[in-house]
Amino acid sequence: MALVASPALFGQGAETGEALFKRNCAGCHGPDGSGQTAMGVASKLQDLRSADVQKMTDAQLADMIAKGKGKMPTYGARLNPGQIQSVVGYLRELAGEEVGPGGPATYLRKPEIPGSRPPGKADERR
Ligand code: HEC
Repeated sequence: MALVASPALFGQGAETGEALFKRNCAGCHGPDGSGQTAMGVASKLQDLRSADVQKMTDAQLADMIAKGKGKMPTYGARLNPGQIQSVVGYLRELAGEEVGPGGPATYLRKPEIPGSRPPGKADERR
């Protein structure tokens, strides 16, 4: 499996991570990943840009998306691994846009020991 999905390989699956996210995930997580949707608020969805989500590795995120979790649907049968990688890439982009260079979440770029932070700290909204 190619690491970076070549859209041409997948024919009709020629969609960017952003397009895939908007089609498959935004209904619950919101187009910006904030979880500010009817479903998202009702199920208290975490902001996908938050440190708690971003501290997961790409592999963990891909695994979670493929297998689902709680009320989160399983995507392993709907998205191929390349598409899941594209979506994971888009989750990183979302976070990057939110925090910006030198923002409060510079630790997002450094691997950190999970659990060493008080929960919710980095989840401040503007
Ligand atoms: C039907 C609504 C729904 C859709 C569609 C959906 N999710 Fe979720 N997602 C959830 C729920 C509910 C949770 C919280 C699961 C839990 O913690 O029990 C969640 C959690 C997550 C998490 C965080 C996991 C964690 O540990 O808190 C990520 C990342 C995520 N979703 C990504 C995605 C991506 C990417 C897509 C599209 C491919 C997607 N979701 C589509 C409902 C949805």
